Amino acid sequence: MAEIAGIITTSHVPAIGGAIAKGLQSDPYWKPFFDGFPPVRDWLARVKPDVVVLVYNDHGLNFFLDKMPTFAIGAAAEYRNADEGWGIPTVPPFRGDPELSWHIIESLVAEEFDLVSCQEMVVDHAFTLPMALCWPDQKWPVRTVPVVVNTVQAPLPSAARCYKLGQALGRAIASWPKDERVVVMGTGGLSHQLDGERAGFINKDFDLKFMDSMINNPAWATKYSTVELVELSGTQGVELLNWVVARGTLPQKVRKQQANYHIPISNTASGLMVLEPAA
Ligand code: DHB
Ligand code: FE
Repeated sequence: MAEIAGIITTSHVPAIGGAIAKGLQSDPYWKPFFDGFPPVRDWLARVKPDVVVLVYNDHGLNFFLDKMPTFAIGAAAEYRNADEGWGIPTVPPFRGDPELSWHIIESLVAEEFDLVSCQEMVVDHAFTLPMALCWPDQKWPVRTVPVVVNTVQAPLPSAARCYKLGQALGRAIASWPKDERVVVMGTGGLSHQLDGERAGFINKDFDLKFMDSMINNPAWATKYSTVELVELSGTQGVELLNWVVARGTLPQKVRKQQANYHIPISNTASGLMVLEPAA
């Protein structure tokens, strides 16, 4: 049976792609951010995942405001990156795993999570940059399954719903009959707001409480409505819902392998965690 080796949760700011392209990893502005990743790569080298299930929000590349699924999942053999207009180089295509995708879709629909299934899907910076941070040579050694959560256009799914989706996703992966190791990623956040009067808003106190909850109290964020989460973390900080889904795939008790928090990367408080099942 498949096993979830752990989760990686990280921010996904487009400027990271520019910094990678310009080789700025040791630049004083970028170093505290990039320094979080060598331990993640060491962990991945130990865990050797076969598959990454990557939970993120699309920013208008694959889904636009005219058609916005609350939850969607890729079921394609390949996922290409495309130009989003940020001026960052595109990355090589990712191998999919249609068989596993359909297993997850069957399992989630049976549990009353009716995701939109996508047999064609392009992936944006929220998918590509976390992958490029984990595998800087961009020779992706894993198959991938993209899971998309609407964190963009109201009404957003509640944190409680996202946590339950994560739990159902964890059961779906655990019932995959192949002896494979799966890493679940959740990308986005932490606190940031790109638009409106509060543009530039960051809430370190909330972010640190949220990161702490990911370790010992995974349902903590579910006590907030999405409007409260937007108030606390910003209109884009609410991307933390992707972290909530990823955390839901793990058991209650986890071990922290790695954590990093740095303000700011572009307009964002960047967070990074690697968590493993404790047992
Ligand atoms: C920024 C952060 C994001 O999560 C994003 O999707 C786009 C931009 C930023 O801080 O610049
Ligand atoms: Fe984003």
